[in-house]
Formats: sequence, C-alpha cells, structure tokens
Amino acid sequence: MDSISPGNWLGLLGGGQLGRMFCMAAQSLGYKVAVLDPGLASPAGTVADRHIAADYLDPTALAQLASLVAAATTEFENVPAAALEFLSRTARVTPAAASVAIAQDRISEKMFLSGHGFPVAPYVILRTDADARDARLDFFPGVVKTARFGYDGKGQIACEQPADALAALSALSAPCVLEQWVPLAYEISVIVARNERDETASWPVAENRHRGGILDVSIAPAQLPPRLSAQACDLATRVAKALDYRGVLCVEMFVGKDLSLLVNEIAPRPHNSGHYTIDACVTSQFEQQVRVLADLPLGDTRQHTPAVMVNLLGDVWFTNAEESKTREPPWRDVLCQPQTKLHLYGKAEPRRKRKMGHITCLGASIDDALATAREVKRALRIAGADNL
Ligand SMILES: Nc1ncnc2c1ncn2[C@@H]1O[C@H](COP(=O)(O)OP(=O)(O)O)[C@@H](O)[C@H]1O
Ligand SMILES: [Mg+2]
Repeated sequence: MDSISPGNWLGLLGGGQLGRMFCMAAQSLGYKVAVLDPGLASPAGTVADRHIAADYLDPTALAQLASLVAAATTEFENVPAAALEFLSRTARVTPAAASVAIAQDRISEKMFLSGHGFPVAPYVILRTDADARDARLDFFPGVVKTARFGYDGKGQIACEQPADALAALSALSAPCVLEQWVPLAYEISVIVARNERDETASWPVAENRHRGGILDVSIAPAQLPPRLSAQACDLATRVAKALDYRGVLCVEMFVGKDLSLLVNEIAPRPHNSGHYTIDACVTSQFEQQVRVLADLPLGDTRQHTPAVMVNLLGDVWFTNAEESKTREPPWRDVLCQPQTKLHLYGKAEPRRKRKMGHITCLGASIDDALATAREVKRALRIAGADNL
C-alpha cells in the first residue's frame, strides 16, 4: 500500500477538540483537512481547510467528502458505522467501522474483551427486568451503565442491590451492563497506535484522576512499579491486535488494590488522557493518527519530559458556583509559570462541565510538574490542588 503524501486531503468525521488537534497535526505535516460535522462553528470545523456542515449520514455531504479525500478517520466513537463504510469504498478509512462498532457499545465491548480473555470487572448484561432481578449478589455494590452514548460518567447509576439495578435499568430505558464496583488503587490509560503493517507503538502509561466523573488530571509517566507499567502497555497492545485495530486506540484500565489490571473501556481514537503527548513526547497521539491514516512510518512515542495535564472545564470561566456570568480566566497567572502549555479548543460558549481546553505542566521531574499543576489549579480556582 502506498503512503498518502502531504498535499493530499484527509477527511475527518466529527468536529470536537480531538478533531481540532488532529487537523492541526495534519496541517503541520502539510495535509489539507476536510471536516464533516453538523455544527456551524465546531472546534475542528473552524481550523479545517474545508468544513462540510451536515449530518454524518447526509448522502450529498458524504459524497462530497468522498470525492475530495484520499483517507478518512473519526474523532468520536459514536460516528455512524454506515458513514465510515461509505467512505471506505473510495478512501482509506482507519479505524475500520467494525472496530468502532465494538467500542460504541458497552455490551459488545465487554463481550469482545472477556471473549478474548482480557481481564474486566465482573459484569452481567441487563436487557430485561428479569436480568436485573436475577443478578447475582456478588455484582453488588455495582454500577449500571447504559450500553450506548454514555460519557464522562453520564448514563451510570450506582446500585446496592438487585432492586436498584432494576430501577436503574428502567431509568436508563436501554440495554445496560451491571458491573461490580471495584476498589481501585489507580486509574490508568495506555494509548497505542497500530498501522497497516501491524507495527505498534504505545506511549508511557498515564495515571488519571477524575472529578465528578470527568477527567481532571493525567500524570505521565504514571508513578507505578515498572513491571506494572510494562504489563499495562503489553495489555493495550494485545487489545489493539485482537481488534485488528488500525489507528490510535486508548485503553482505560483499573488498577486494583492488589495491583491487578482490569480493562475498563476502550476508545477508538486519541484520548483526553493522551493530550500530554503533544508537549511531552517526540510524537503526539494526533501526529500518530495522521501517520497511520496516511500510512507513513510510526513516529517515536518516547516521552522526553515529565508532564501533568490539567483539564479546563467551563466552570473555570465562571467566577463562582452561583454566578451565571462568565469572564475570560486569568491566563497571565497561569502562563507566568514558564513550563505551562495552554491549549484552548475555541468553543464559543463556556458551559459548566464542558471541556474547554487543557494545560500541560512540564517539569524536570514529576514532582516538579505536579508543583506547577498545583499552582495552575490555585490560579484558576480548580478544586483539588492540595490533593495532587
Ligand atoms: N466498576 C467500577 N469500579 C470502580 N470505579 C468505576 C467502575 N466503573 C466506573 N468507575 C468510575 O467511573 C468512571 C467513569 O466510568 P467509565 O466506565 O470509564 O465511563 P465513561 O468514561 O464513559 O463515563 C471511571 O473512570 C471510574 O472512576
Ligand atoms: Mg471512561
């Protein structure tokens, strides 16, 4: 298979921040990018060389995109598989619709993972009331998660007993998965790239800390025993191979109190916990996404600088919890720390809990990067500075 050289058009389904950073990486390598996204002023649409503002299944828009691009990818897992299949008739498409379809649905994701012998939290599929009523007691305390369209902790309900699971299934009114609540030592993620030639490259493990179900901070490299980090990278690589995956894949994992690894979920795209790779690694997850898509050789995933990424949610734009007015945050107070790298996604309207940007804090050591991250959190009044 020939590489697609710079100068060609690449297509992207989805207009969010992951797409924006893909566009920027592709443009930096000399490609032109066409984005298909229904929004009029989306983060990716506004930086793309062309923005086709239409539904993902709009036949005219898809035909227009197909006539323009040599290859196409996606930046979110809920892209309709039919759109990827349509584009794959005339363009190279990574990841394949089949891989995306597995990650789109928690039921197929769990069945795929457990079917291939990857460790996951004990779970049972809930399709009917009887499934919930008859759930074994060792799944409790547990959490019921909707099979589709859940993100950032949305579509999840904690359960103490079968009656709660029944109520959760009825509240979510869709097929669900009931998962045992696992006592965690850490949450980590590994991002891995795999290309058409079956070559793989993973980045160092990130430790992820959440607040209110949303990623708050990623610490990279995770401060884990080296053997555990190596196991996590190996696990992620095996998942990518089992999926016959092409592109950039994120494997979120739980680390139990006994330091055992469980796969939590997979994302068929670059991931929020991999944003540190932009500033701290030789090759970012977005550049790698371009490289795999264009069938260029994989870039070096080595991390050259310890990093702590702090997410910027819309809350930072509000002066306090009661306030409804927003203002531009005091960026000077952040950027006076010379090792901070500010990334804003160009979203027109800040909303609470909405991902607006992130700041990567670099340092000579993780402690150094953590100290900067604490200062950043204090300057922007983001909770949890003292727990970092
Ligand atoms: N079975 C579980 N045991 C312990 N913690 C869990 C479990 N499932 C989810 N969580 C917590 O909730 C967060 C969000 O759940 P996740 O399944 O990753 O959904 P999403 O990221 O799509 O919202 C996880 O990162 C973790 O902190
Ligand atoms: Mg998750």
